[in-house]
Amino acid sequence: MKLVFATNNLNKLSEIRSLIPPEIEILSLKDINCKDDLPETCNTLEGNALQKALYVFDNYGFNCFADDTGLEVDILGGEPGVYSARYAGEDCNSENNINKLLKKMNGKKERGASFRTVIALVIQAEHTLFEAHCRGIITKRKSGVEGFGYDPVFIPNGFDKTFAEMSKHQKGAISHRGQAVKKLVAFLSTN
Ligand code: IMP
Repeated sequence: MKLVFATNNLNKLSEIRSLIPPEIEILSLKDINCKDDLPETCNTLEGNALQKALYVFDNYGFNCFADDTGLEVDILGGEPGVYSARYAGEDCNSENNINKLLKKMNGKKERGASFRTVIALVIQAEHTLFEAHCRGIITKRKSGVEGFGYDPVFIPNGFDKTFAEMSKHQKGAISHRGQAVKKLVAFLSTN
């Protein structure tokens, strides 16, 4: 079976390829010659994941899936959530986002947070959503160079190192995306 993973984020593509069994061939946007910026204008993870997957299905005709992920920090009322990618502004990068987060968390004792991922699968115009989250804490400073995004400041519960200090394999075994992908694979193997 062939599925397009609708993302322009090469880190996500690499994580997903390491999580999906070989009988499911993952095509990238580059593989289908799609150079578009995918639309993400909804105010929920569910809405954005579906919007990206439907964009690729409607415009390129491939069965596909997309993921939308947010970091939800308890004491910030779930911020940055669906706005995680542009937390520090439209043209900001992960470092800017992390710096803003650490500043907001400065002096806070309650540091609980979740990463939440929604995957939208579109097969022959029919869609299905898969959701998963990973609980942890926001650290006081960055640690580690693996992974991407907010990984250097997130320690998952039950561990003493950040996602950015873990291998891709170790992160995938416990992460929000890893859990959501397990649900996707289980669905694909029974449908
Ligand atoms: P999106 O799902 O591509 O919209 O990502 C939203 C934001 O969360 C971006 O800033 C990503 O870098 C960040 N992000 C998404 N997935 C992860 C992850 O697994 N670890 C850390 N940050 C992530």
